Amino acid sequence: MKHLLSLNHLTTEEIFKILKLAEQLKSDNYRGVTHHILKGKTLGMIFSKSSTRTRVSFEVGMYQLGGSALFLSSNDIQLGRGESIYDTAHVLSRYLNGIMIRTYAQKDVDDLAEFGSIPIINGLTDREHPCQILADLQTIYEQKGKLEGLKLAYIGDGNNIAHSLLHGCSKVGMDIAIAAPKGYECDEEIVEQAKEAAKKTGGKVLITEDPVEAIKGADAVYTDTWVSMGQESEKAERLKIFMPYQINKELWKYTNDGAIFLHCLPAYRGYEVTEDIIDGSMSVIFDEAENRLHAQKAVMAILMGNL
Ligand code: CP
Ligand code: NVA
Repeated sequence: MKHLLSLNHLTTEEIFKILKLAEQLKSDNYRGVTHHILKGKTLGMIFSKSSTRTRVSFEVGMYQLGGSALFLSSNDIQLGRGESIYDTAHVLSRYLNGIMIRTYAQKDVDDLAEFGSIPIINGLTDREHPCQILADLQTIYEQKGKLEGLKLAYIGDGNNIAHSLLHGCSKVGMDIAIAAPKGYECDEEIVEQAKEAAKKTGGKVLITEDPVEAIKGADAVYTDTWVSMGQESEKAERLKIFMPYQINKELWKYTNDGAIFLHCLPAYRGYEVTEDIIDGSMSVIFDEAENRLHAQKAVMAILMGNL
């Protein structure tokens, strides 16, 4: 494992290695035990989109591991004025020990990894959000004591979160059901890759337009905003189309007893989810947000600390 560009590149064993280390780092953190595995190392964090969780958890994570993090807004570095990814990758590789990048095109992240000589971590693209899903798997494991054999239902937009969930769940042997409206489905190539992975782990992949079919018997229910970053101009149309996909009491009736609710955040109450669900006893959204810190520390320790 040299980079974290897509969960599709990780083996089942590599995912469980990250989750195990994340669990250890979390419990050590609670007991005040520190590990300065990345002492003297610096992570560059390139952001072309907004962020609360990703920015803060990576920065705090680097600090806790004994290193430091540099916030690089693409508006302020020459990349935003047209300097090539090729030159940026070569130059930053001379200063930094790793780069986390949040941007639009997956290709830019892949190119950074190809041209640079340091580990690259995908902090969200239009196509994937691998760090988020590692934290989600950690959260589900904490709540349920296992992953294999559980069913996760994702109801909403077939976006970056849905794509990384497809990879993540299928690789750990979970069943995943995705309900998205016509025209907003997941990428077919990613669905096929998830089906292939599921064959090996015994998981199942269901793709449907029907939220009831997807949520039936779910142990974990997930949704995300209907308007991702960069889609602001489509907002009015999207809010109309996605309304039947709202997670509410009515839909929750079909879940398994003890089902949990997940959301990567930021959330928009009254749209993709009602208050009684996201603020109810089934919601684990803040554990999920916290686990971004622990899961990413594990990723950085492995990639930048050769753990
Ligand atoms: N879930 C997530 O990535 O949040 P931010 O956009 O705040 O980083
Ligand atoms: N799908 C959302 C996720 C935000 C963390 C977006 O891309 O804006």
